[in-house]
Amino acid sequence: MTVTGARLLLRDLAQLATPAGTATPLRGSALGEVEVLEDAFVLCVGDTIEAVGRMRDLPALDSEVREVDCRGLCAVPGLVDCHTHAAFGGDRVGEFSLRAGGASYEELHAAGGGILSTVRATRAAGEAGLLAAVELHRSWMLAAGTTTFEAKSGYGLDRETELASLRAIREAGGIPTWLGAHAVPPEFDDADAYLDFALAEVLPEAAGIAEAADVFLERGAFDAAQALRYLAACRDAGLALRLHGDQFTESGAIPLAVELAARSVDHLEATGKEGIRALAASEVVGVLLPASALFLDRPMPPARPLVDAGAAVALATDFNPGSAFCESLPLVCSLAATQLHLSPAEALAACTVNAAHVLGRADRIGRLAPGYRADVTLLAAPDWRYLAYHLGGRVVAGVVVAGELR
Ligand code: NIG
Ligand code: FE
Repeated sequence: MTVTGARLLLRDLAQLATPAGTATPLRGSALGEVEVLEDAFVLCVGDTIEAVGRMRDLPALDSEVREVDCRGLCAVPGLVDCHTHAAFGGDRVGEFSLRAGGASYEELHAAGGGILSTVRATRAAGEAGLLAAVELHRSWMLAAGTTTFEAKSGYGLDRETELASLRAIREAGGIPTWLGAHAVPPEFDDADAYLDFALAEVLPEAAGIAEAADVFLERGAFDAAQALRYLAACRDAGLALRLHGDQFTESGAIPLAVELAARSVDHLEATGKEGIRALAASEVVGVLLPASALFLDRPMPPARPLVDAGAAVALATDFNPGSAFCESLPLVCSLAATQLHLSPAEALAACTVNAAHVLGRADRIGRLAPGYRADVTLLAAPDWRYLAYHLGGRVVAGVVVAGELR
């Protein structure tokens, strides 16, 4: 049921939890500071939060307020998934079964499977099929408590399908990122020839739809010099910059991200001490994707050393058909607590305010506070920390998106 109305009151919440303060991104000890109100309310006017507080402090309201009884529920800021690949056709369930039998992700990729098999299915889907796919994935994310999602192209790798992917993401309510440098498609002999094409033929129009550009900087994909060329052109076209880096090997992603003042470098499963130090000394956010490490049976990223060194980190799903068929940020929070040794409070900030920062929206989303967009994730739990505690559980009771209860 969708409830719309000018004013919406979420009342009698068991708890309300929100990252403390107003700074962004949160780092160091501030990452773990969460404000918790017991017996709380959230009052929304239109698409904006007007007030939050304790029930005993609720002011008198006129009869036009739509009230929702939230006894037994907790409220956290609407979850923000800042790294997904939701625009794809087909699936990779066959490859998943092969990997279960011992085949490696990189071997499958090198043999023309992996990302390239999704490129074939995505090209065949057509724009309407792609939109239907993103909308389906969007519905899964909403059910899992995600109220804002970024999604990347990168499974088209031709002009038509890349642009159709970006349009489908925007139409489905997502924030599009042009991952024009995800893999070299089969019609090109090498990465440089493909980049010549992508930058000349796709970037001019992609820059008008996407907000950011992303590159897969990795052995077997694009090297640091190619990534630099691609990202510099994207920056000159007005896009924010992001990188897939240090997933399997340290190939120079962190120094490049710092040099180019990228918004984020994502994955970091292979990051060593020097990378941790360099990232911590920079403004670049490290986006951690533990569902991907789990799904591929890879080492987890060094989350605790990153946070302790002062790096800004965010958490995301990496939802995609090959390396992380998982749309659940609550599950990612459970992995953050059990595998990355982050506290539930650190995990909450990492997939709300810090994820919003990666998307350039931390002034409007990621907190439950007056003036922020009325995005709320309601948890079916007596304590907000069930977000991370209830491993794989049905913890999300519902969401409010821009003041609309869904
Ligand atoms: O973030 N590593 C590169 N890209 C995706 C995976 C894409 C795929 O396997 O289809 C990732 O893991
Ligand atoms: Fe990814």
